[in-house]
Amino acid sequence: MFQSFYKIQSVEQLNPTTFSFVVDCKNLASESWCGRFVNIQCGEKTLRRPISISEIDQEMGTITLVFEVRGEGTAWLAQRKAGDEINILGPLGNGFFPDKGKRAIFIGGGIGCPPMLGAAQDYGEKAEAILGFRSKAQVILLDKFEKCCQSVSVTTNDGSFGTKGFVTDVLREKLESDTDCVVYACGPMPMLKGVAELCNEKNVLCYVSLEQRMGCGIGACLACACKTHEKDGEHMRHVCKNGPVFDAREVDFNG
Ligand code: FES
Repeated sequence: MFQSFYKIQSVEQLNPTTFSFVVDCKNLASESWCGRFVNIQCGEKTLRRPISISEIDQEMGTITLVFEVRGEGTAWLAQRKAGDEINILGPLGNGFFPDKGKRAIFIGGGIGCPPMLGAAQDYGEKAEAILGFRSKAQVILLDKFEKCCQSVSVTTNDGSFGTKGFVTDVLREKLESDTDCVVYACGPMPMLKGVAELCNEKNVLCYVSLEQRMGCGIGACLACACKTHEKDGEHMRHVCKNGPVFDAREVDFNG
């Protein structure tokens, strides 16, 4: 884990509230893999903001961070420009380890799509993606998913882009014909719960990356507690330290 000031190489605004930063951070990039995250100091805010790593370029020594403006901290971050330096702690968390020997379906909901891009890129050209957004205005990273995946399905809640409905509608269709696969998902809790229940019903292995409110980001404050049911019983796990990626069968989505 590193903590340092790193230079923002480029900034791109992906939609009215979502920004993408490429950050120059050779040492941090070398320890990064898909599904891990970093904690960024945002101005005078005492609590750092957790941002998942979207893409990693080991050769260039860069990571790409995609975040949505949700409060004062991320609003401050969105005002940073190329050339500015930001204080980053990371990489943190366990991340995804896509099983390259099995058909893989990567599911992202809204701002849960960025970490799934890195996971799909890591998996390779046979990756299948299902992306869900509220409406057309929120769609992000579609061109990048199309570049690295053999198929990309998009759903919007209001039908303004792609198929009207939810990612679980598309997943159900895919699993009707073939359940010999692994599902990886990141997005809001209700979406993850729906994906997990469907995978459970179809007996398909599923890994979810939980988006949880965080404090310290390193397992010291309990702000990110999550209940799990594991072989040896019930546990309270830290999403920041034990996750953010969990076997969906173990997560208590009602806890
Ligand atoms: Fe503090 Fe996870 S954020 S323990």
